Amino acid sequence: MNILVTGGAGFIGSNFIYYQLEKHPKDKIICLDALTYAGNLDSLKRALSEPNVTFVKGDIADRQCVNTLFENHKPDIVVNFAAESHVDRSIENPQLFLQTNIMGTQVLLDGCRKYGITRFHQVGTDEVYGDLPLDRTDLFFTEQTPIHTSSPYSASKAAADLLVLAYYRTFKTPVSISRCSNNYGPYHFPEKLIPLMISRALHDQSLPVYGKGENVRDWLYVKDHCAAIDLVMRHGRVGEVYNIGGHNERSNLEVVKTILKELDKPQSLITYVTDRPGHDLRYAIDPTKIHDELGWLPETSFDEGIKKTVRWYKENRSWWQSILDGEYRNYYDKMYGDR
Ligand code: NAD
Ligand code: DAU
Repeated sequence: MNILVTGGAGFIGSNFIYYQLEKHPKDKIICLDALTYAGNLDSLKRALSEPNVTFVKGDIADRQCVNTLFENHKPDIVVNFAAESHVDRSIENPQLFLQTNIMGTQVLLDGCRKYGITRFHQVGTDEVYGDLPLDRTDLFFTEQTPIHTSSPYSASKAAADLLVLAYYRTFKTPVSISRCSNNYGPYHFPEKLIPLMISRALHDQSLPVYGKGENVRDWLYVKDHCAAIDLVMRHGRVGEVYNIGGHNERSNLEVVKTILKELDKPQSLITYVTDRPGHDLRYAIDPTKIHDELGWLPETSFDEGIKKTVRWYKENRSWWQSILDGEYRNYYDKMYGDR
């Protein structure tokens, strides 16, 4: 089987490539990635030494590049991780999100139509459902929850999902979509909550918590997400959406305090800063469908996953330190300077 993994030099994509190499060592993997600020070939170092992994630098919205790739590598499955993924950046520059997340998905779908594939899998997000109230812990996102987006990021991801479903209905393209809650684990870019807090705490720097830190996210260890995507793209029903999450809800403040405890650092590092505009209150996934149809269940508890993640960041300092020493320094000053 030839598998085209777009965005494979990013956080989840790189973890997914390692998962594939372990689980399906005979499959061939072609990674297409534009190597934006979030893409990092260091994350794929081990994978790129394998004979069945090929890396192609290119933009999913570049039709010629995508078509050439289809002609040269004849993928059976296309799994699309490539995206602009950070909500805060989408508030600064929405246009780029529309270009990559919507137009890029459309170019990939056209490639699938033109050259034929057995499955196009879109890696979606629970953010397309909007948010849930903090005081209604009985409510969860199901696949029937209406799309109700808050940020330019989530609006672009929702548009991409709708296009994917339109290609299924109109052109019979064999598609599937998964919508996952917040991931954490190795190779997570240090602009996102968990790696940001770990890397800053390791430097004894202040930890910028938005608002009162009451917002709730449903955290899933990245390897469990990779296992779920693998199941859906190989065995999930065509034309279907599957929610992925592990009932692991935590307020941001709880997460930050857990990290501080794990690192033996003082709570005085916590600094409350101006809230994110349009900040979603609570995400919580109901994963009944993927459990019932495909037998998926997460294997890593939050307590175990956060310990592993903190250990990984301690043992792989050079991976994130080189990011912090680069262009990221300007990003942090710009985003947090006046907050
Ligand atoms: P990431 O930002 O870490 O990685 C994105 C990757 O896509 C990078 O390697 C980047 O270089 C590449 N990329 C960006 N634009 C591209 C383009 N035009 N062409 C080719 N490559 C391009 O993101 P992530 O956190 O790994 O998320 C991967 C996917 O999973 C995204 O679609 C995201 O919406 C979705 N998702 C993420 C989470 C999460 O918690 N991180 C949860 C649910 C869904
Ligand atoms: O739910 C899935 C989504 O999870 C994915 O689709 C996105 O790609 C991914 O980035 C993530 O989105 P969030 O906005 O939830 O993740 P982020 O790590 O940016 O923020 C998590 C929470 O922490 C959120 O409530 C905002 C808060 N936060 C974040 C940052 C960066 C802070 O309090 N301080 C910060 O500095």
